[in-house]
Amino acid sequence: MSATAPPQNQGEDLTVPPEKLPRHLAVIMDGNGRWAKKRGWNRVRGHEEGSESVRVLVRACRRLGIGWLTLYAFSEENWARPQAEVTALMKLLNRFLKKERQEMLERGIRLNTIGETEKLPKATRELLSKTMAETAGGRDMTLTLALSYGGRQEITQAARRLAEDVKAGRLEPAAIDEAALAGRLYTAGMPDPDLLIRTSGEQRISNFLPWQTAYAEFYFTETLWPDFREPELMSALRAYAGRQRRFGRTGDQLETG
Ligand code: FPP
Repeated sequence: MSATAPPQNQGEDLTVPPEKLPRHLAVIMDGNGRWAKKRGWNRVRGHEEGSESVRVLVRACRRLGIGWLTLYAFSEENWARPQAEVTALMKLLNRFLKKERQEMLERGIRLNTIGETEKLPKATRELLSKTMAETAGGRDMTLTLALSYGGRQEITQAARRLAEDVKAGRLEPAAIDEAALAGRLYTAGMPDPDLLIRTSGEQRISNFLPWQTAYAEFYFTETLWPDFREPELMSALRAYAGRQRRFGRTGDQLETG
């Protein structure tokens, strides 16, 4: 599997060595509305074009060998948007699932969700369960869609579960450690993201994976999500490959092993 992007500039090495790629990439896909507004179009047109960016990103990550891709597709707060926009987003999600099903199966992509998915419309819930069951054997990449997701809500429900386990006598308070809490998050069993990308110039995480991104590298770009395609992905991956992740140690310690 090659991690090589098509060269765009003669003489410049634009490749990223596979060992320098993130194992888990998380993305806050922002700027669909502004992309459409700039063109005098309805916001939904922006989400449609944003869906195409999702397709491109999934394919590229799979080809590069990135094993985990997590996308902030619909936040807990997004329910407050106009009903017509919420409905359009759910329809786009349904369309994406139907269209990409075959490709996910062929390319060993396992679909997963995090968030309060029980709040989603019935048709979307059913499509998600069906696609997750069908793709459960995918071994090459896990595509996780964060849907009706909120990080504080996730941590709160994990705390509630810990309390229930203590109350039921299944868990000693002294046994509550980071692993005990992490094991009760939606992301239990997943590696933490190594790189978090946010598009559209905003520099915040907006309640996306606050626990899991404690040591992630952040990459912010002015590019609006519908314009974020393979060249923009490769720029982000090159920036990540150039970072030194110290996890609290000094640079010298890392260099001397
Ligand atoms: C943010 O743009 C984007 C969203 C709230 C939804 C993301 C949804 C998609 C990319 C399309 C459907 C998803 C899948 C998985 C097929 P915004 O509307 O907040 O943009 P703005 O900040 O410019 O208004």
